[in-house]
Amino acid sequence: MFSFFSGKNRSLGIDIGTTGIKIVELKKENNVPVLLNYALSYDSGSLLQSNSLEMLDGQTGRILQGVLKKAEFGTKRGVVGIPSFLALISFLELPEMPSSEIEKAIRFEAAKYIPSPIDEVNLGWEVIGSYQEKPVEGGQPIRSGQKMQIMVVTVPNSAVERLSSAMAISRISVTAMEVENFATVRCLIGNDKGTFMIVNIGAKATDFTIVSDGIVRVTRSIDVGGAEISRALASGLGIDLQRADRIKKSSQMNLLDSKDQLSSLVGPVIGMILDEVKRLREIYHKKNPLKKIEKMIFTGGTSKLATLTDYFSKQLSSECQRGNSLARIGVKKEYQGIVQEVAPELTVAIGLALRGLEISSK
Ligand SMILES: Nc1ncnc2c1ncn2[C@@H]1O[C@H](COP(=O)(O)OP(=O)(O)OP(=O)(O)O)[C@@H](O)[C@H]1O
Ligand SMILES: [Mg+2]
Repeated sequence: MFSFFSGKNRSLGIDIGTTGIKIVELKKENNVPVLLNYALSYDSGSLLQSNSLEMLDGQTGRILQGVLKKAEFGTKRGVVGIPSFLALISFLELPEMPSSEIEKAIRFEAAKYIPSPIDEVNLGWEVIGSYQEKPVEGGQPIRSGQKMQIMVVTVPNSAVERLSSAMAISRISVTAMEVENFATVRCLIGNDKGTFMIVNIGAKATDFTIVSDGIVRVTRSIDVGGAEISRALASGLGIDLQRADRIKKSSQMNLLDSKDQLSSLVGPVIGMILDEVKRLREIYHKKNPLKKIEKMIFTGGTSKLATLTDYFSKQLSSECQRGNSLARIGVKKEYQGIVQEVAPELTVAIGLALRGLEISSK
């Protein structure tokens, strides 16, 4: 039946972070995705997800219901993010084969390296490239032929089930689930064909994604984020976490000044993120000498830390900037001022909602 309110040209993007739920609603207007509404709800103190596979479902569901009620979104259809630390993204090569056989071969290969039984994971894959294998001169005769490069994404079934049930309680109609890294790339890189590293610094974790020619090449997640920075300030200054959090968010910090007291307290935490960026960059450049990373793009709430991108630029001798998560969407006038402030926290949710619009236009 024809309906004006079918909601087909709208989608929610739902990002359940470790400390907050972030939801955006996008609508396609004259073929442009426009931000209709958004909501962020931070649960002070406790974490929404522990870092193990246990998600505190009851709490997540309860907060989600509260957010949905307050924000009055115009659709219930949405794409839900899967936290990066729950997913295993890997790459393998297979000889060219009929598409009907690919899935079986991937399951066989994946079973060798994923830590849990293959029947307990949700497995997705995509052919990301192919090349002609050449016999090595003077070497062992090998079978030369077309090779397919495949990206494999596995997520524990238990995680998918928990997210699904939290959504079902809130009557969200889930059109897709997507691992955060892909949503981040869609939001910040779009169709840009260069080679970039995205560093998403949240509360509990930092996610790294190297993307080249629009394809995710490397992902990695470490347990360091803004919460750790607040803790370092609290214990160094002998103050409580709330005060430390306020100091962190003020613009008092100058990471470029090694004599700055605040900067020296958070230095070791920032150093862990910096070391990981350097390590991943080095490995990637060794493997791909012709595809140098052009730019490091920072996002997530902690990317708002004063002088952070300048500090990384200096340390890495490379271009570092904050991503603009609003670059690929229209923003209604009434939001233009306020949404800028929370745009780095909304990156994943925007990427997820953009995916939702792609699905409904198919
Ligand atoms: N102006 C600011 N300066 C520094 N840090 C900030 C600022 N604003 C928010 N933060 C920090 O950003 C973090 C929240 O960011 P974000 O919403 O991206 O995390 P999350 O998605 O909940 O966590 P995770 O990605 O680890 O699951 C918190 O640690 C918060 O203290
Ligand atoms: Mg996050």
